Amino acid sequence: MPFARLTGSGSYLPPRIVTNHELAARIDTSDEWIVSRSGIRQRHLADPSQTSSDLAVEASREALAAAGVRAESVDLVIVATSTPDFVFPSTACLLQAKLGIAGCPAFDVQAVCSGFVYGVAVADAFIRAGQARTALVAGAEVFSRILDWNDRSTCVLFGDGAGAVVLQADARPGVHACVLHADGRYAGILSVPGNVCGGGITGSPFLRMDGQAVFKLAVRVLEEVARETVARCAMRVEDIDWLIPHQANVRILDATTKRLGLPRERLIVTVDRHANTSAASVPLALDLALRDGRIRPGHRVMLQGVGGGFTWGAALVEI
Ligand code: ACO
Repeated sequence: MPFARLTGSGSYLPPRIVTNHELAARIDTSDEWIVSRSGIRQRHLADPSQTSSDLAVEASREALAAAGVRAESVDLVIVATSTPDFVFPSTACLLQAKLGIAGCPAFDVQAVCSGFVYGVAVADAFIRAGQARTALVAGAEVFSRILDWNDRSTCVLFGDGAGAVVLQADARPGVHACVLHADGRYAGILSVPGNVCGGGITGSPFLRMDGQAVFKLAVRVLEEVARETVARCAMRVEDIDWLIPHQANVRILDATTKRLGLPRERLIVTVDRHANTSAASVPLALDLALRDGRIRPGHRVMLQGVGGGFTWGAALVEI
């Protein structure tokens, strides 16, 4: 049975950077409050003309180039997003067309901030089952579109961006193990409780969050799923070279690292520069650390997602 091996990564951040100071000039907040509560200093925001598939195609081209793979070789396209271009067709189909390819399966995964890890798990299963040999998995979000910019308790926390990876069949691992979970009883603590109906929106088109409930749950499940994932492949937490949790809040990242007993130097942090980009946050952080040389061949990287649903999961990947 083949393994799925990560052979390339890419990312795209919209050029427009909005600092906390810029937000503080518009709403009742401050750089000091945002940094002390979340670690966020700035975020990138997409131009109104840009959609998730626009961001995804830039990250995907970079990932394909890094893997040395032509788009024509891709036989599976998965996009993790909760801010799709349209109700349908899927953002993955739009991405496929923008890459100039056709025929292979393409679909979206909707697991909010866990979406990229869910997508990696699905691609890993396709590759292990022999149903795909070269999978493109992207996480892409224009989260700025579902924020109420007058709600200071949520709008300061998020940003836009995209990241992508190429996973290919290989005799060596690769992806050692993926573990996914969800608990729909927590749907209410983080949601955009609206839908398109009869030419308008029924419910609310804006993100709502019980921040403290999310915080507590995130810290608990990120520790649990890390331990479950290393146990699944008969490894120990100490065998993890790099921890890349979903970049929601630096306090969640620090608490998870501490609970796992890992040194902080093994934690990859981008939330200060990118804010929370939902499904894009993990591939963006992974790509940055691969490109700056911190993550090197042979390193074991724990990717972790947690988000609305509630959903959570992890993938242990050897580079
Ligand atoms: N600027 C200034 N003051 C603010 C702001 C702001 N942007 N937002 C809220 N406040 C005020 C509140 O009104 C409140 O004031 P009050 O005491 O007078 O009522 C005060 O700050 C404290 O508010 P809390 O919500 O209690 O602040 P808390 O310390 O819990 O921090 C936060 C809020 C940052 C949201 C925190 O709960 C958190 O990080 N939760 C995790 C949520 C998260 O990261 N979500 C990301 C999406 S989920 C995911 O991706 C998994």
